[in-house]
Amino acid sequence: MSEISAAITAVGGYLPNYVLTNQILETIVDTNDEWITSRTGIKERRILKEEGKGTSFLAIKAAQDLIDKSGVNPQEIELVIVATATPDMKAASTAAYTATKIGATNAFSYDLEAACSSFLFGMSTAAKYIESGRYKKVLLIGADKNSSMINYKDRATCIIFGDGAGAVLFEPNNEGLGVQDEYLRSDGSGREFLQAKYGGSSYKTTAEALENNEHCIFQDGKTVFKNAVSNMADVSEKIIKRNGLNNDDISWLAAHQANKRIIDATAKRISLEDEKVMMNIQKYGNTTSATLPLLLYDYESKLKKGDNIIFAAFGGGFTWGSIYLKWAY
Ligand code: UT7
Repeated sequence: MSEISAAITAVGGYLPNYVLTNQILETIVDTNDEWITSRTGIKERRILKEEGKGTSFLAIKAAQDLIDKSGVNPQEIELVIVATATPDMKAASTAAYTATKIGATNAFSYDLEAACSSFLFGMSTAAKYIESGRYKKVLLIGADKNSSMINYKDRATCIIFGDGAGAVLFEPNNEGLGVQDEYLRSDGSGREFLQAKYGGSSYKTTAEALENNEHCIFQDGKTVFKNAVSNMADVSEKIIKRNGLNNDDISWLAAHQANKRIIDATAKRISLEDEKVMMNIQKYGNTTSATLPLLLYDYESKLKKGDNIIFAAFGGGFTWGSIYLKWAY
């Protein structure tokens, strides 16, 4: 690793106001609070209801929150990455629009897509720009308006996903804090099990596809669940072992919030106590690219300088991995 390390120095977040509870879902599809709670841990999720507002609306709000809290001058931000699986449009960059709207007019910007691992992979990307010594302020935003591709008649997916955004600022650190190590993976043979096909370049959007909601998320839950459990646990264990960390050294597990049972299984594999496992799935469901920064947003006041955090994610593609980071403030 280079002498400059890449530290997170500020956090922001945003959740839309509308709360879609399990009780409301009971009136829409054949499901019930008991099933959803026991199988996923989710009680409610937030939905961006307003017409014409997309992922950039969430991203801008989260970035603005970070700017207001930290006092960073947006004109000093050099790069804005929006990690997302639901860009505003197919072609124009959501990050470019977001950067301009928050006043980051000196930054270049781009979107990064790796399904539910988008933010994790974005952490790796952002860190490299800082570690190179060439960039001093990189803003990484994880944002998804999942409700834009959910079929609310499909109980296998509509109970899981929510909308939200979180943002972090990466800056150089010379005390050895920030990103320490990463282990990132992908396997394209898994793509049939979690996907939204139509609207993509291989699948022309037809009236029939729209009619059948084939532009919406499809998930073979059982297969994704099995792969998520084993892979997220494997990579977390690997990164812990190769950095010589033992149980007492780990302050927190920040795991992608897709299903409480997957998070619990990962924590169990690395023998981590419940108090060290960040959890907010009950409030927001699976917000795809926003789960990891929203954990930091919710737990920021509990974090201490030097805390060792193990990040882990698993998502469509398949994509997955783990990052070990030392908290910097
Ligand atoms: O973020 C990207 C990664 N995504 C994930 O990690 C998600 C991974 N998968 C999961 O979290 C779980 O597989 C689900 C939560 C999606 C589903 O849980 P499951 O325990 O795997 O349930 P299942 O699909 O095996 O379904 C069990 C039963 C079925 O009924 P039968 O066939 O046993 O009679 C389903 O029809 O539960 C039924 N079911 C439901 N019942 C009430 C499925 N969805 C629902 C529902 N409400 N919403």
